[in-house]
Amino acid sequence: MTDQITSQGTRTALEDIDLTDASVWEQAAPHAWLDQLRSESPVHWHEESDGPGFWALTRHEDVKQVSTSPKEFSSWVGGPLRLDPPDDGLDQVRMVIIGMDPPEHREFRNIVAKAFTPRMISRLAESLQLETARVVGELREGTRCEFVTDVAARIPMWSISELMGVPPEDRQRLYELSHALIDDQDPEIAPTPETSLEGSAELFGYATEMAARERANPSDSLTSMLLEAEVDGRKLNDMEYTLFFMFLIVAGNETTRTATSHGLLALLEHRDSLDRLVADPDLIPLAVEEILRWQPPIHHFRRTATADVEVGGQKIAKGDKVLMWYAGANRDPSVFDHPHTFDIDRSPNPQLSFGIGEHFCLGANLARLSLRLLFTELLATIENIELAAPPRRLHSNLINGIKEMQITYDVR
Ligand code: HEM
Repeated sequence: MTDQITSQGTRTALEDIDLTDASVWEQAAPHAWLDQLRSESPVHWHEESDGPGFWALTRHEDVKQVSTSPKEFSSWVGGPLRLDPPDDGLDQVRMVIIGMDPPEHREFRNIVAKAFTPRMISRLAESLQLETARVVGELREGTRCEFVTDVAARIPMWSISELMGVPPEDRQRLYELSHALIDDQDPEIAPTPETSLEGSAELFGYATEMAARERANPSDSLTSMLLEAEVDGRKLNDMEYTLFFMFLIVAGNETTRTATSHGLLALLEHRDSLDRLVADPDLIPLAVEEILRWQPPIHHFRRTATADVEVGGQKIAKGDKVLMWYAGANRDPSVFDHPHTFDIDRSPNPQLSFGIGEHFCLGANLARLSLRLLFTELLATIENIELAAPPRRLHSNLINGIKEMQITYDVR
């Protein structure tokens, strides 16, 4: 176990802290800043060059309060992302569950919630195990790979495609589109704003094709569920269906891939933990929780205050933006002993990487299962894993992505 604070431990003037700077997050989560904010200004007014400013939350308790109080802190008023969408964009964001408030939110969430219960996910377990073994098994053919594309990206895309009924030949293309859509801050992935817009338009077209196919041949897929579902005694309209479809593809892909890549990286940086997991794979479920705490795949989500409220003793005015910084909450020393220590025995581990409350991640059961199966299979298949080059991280203040991670290894 090692202690790690990724940026320098020197104090920065509070007004110089810029959590919106994607080039900072691209290096590593700025834990020195997050720690400083948590101790000096836990509910901190943060100016932004491209907006009116926001409250930055870095304490576990405050993130929990805001995330579990959807009446006072809305996902609908300004959407879940830092920047306000343009007016027509806001209408679309409000049609996606992550941009809704109760009671409407509950109705939309219930359409798909039954597909994500532990019972339903355990029904997927056997085939997910086979697919994981197949993908990881391909590593036996060599001694080096680019872990993100060759392994981490493939399993989440497989799972969400199986759930949605996307045929195998379309999956790679859909993966690329979802990538360009969400990772649009990175010029390498989305060189121009048009790249992401074109990706979005193509994904939109694909969702429409899928609807036609599933209407002609209804199945037990999530896509058919969306098409057949009723809210308020009516079916979803085309736009609601399409945006739901697109959101599930993106949400299912980006995050689990990120957690997988960061998981391996964390284990390579903490060899004692890696060795213990090899010797005792029963520790893997706890290790997965620690990986999620250590490197939250999403840096933040946003709420907007619907009334004058107080958080952690600070007055927040109606209409103010509030950003919940998960990396801050996950290393709050009042909740986690030695928060900067990667500790695979940590239990309980109330990490907030899946959010909490009304919008708690619907895919959490699936993501956990997927990560457990992957690390079990990986550590049983290869050994002497080394980084062949420094990992290349995503330029983003939203997604904690790794773009490329070249590794070498021996087959067991
Ligand atoms: C390690 C993997 C994952 C992480 C860290 C993650 C993280 C999150 C977070 C933080 C939220 C809360 C959003 C908010 O409070 O505004 C969320 C919501 C959501 N996630 Fe995940 N997610 C992961 C995997 C998945 C997967 C695999 C799926 C689908 C197959 C999924 C589907 C969703 C959906 C549908 C929501 C919206 C729930 C709602 O608004 O009620 N996620 N996720």
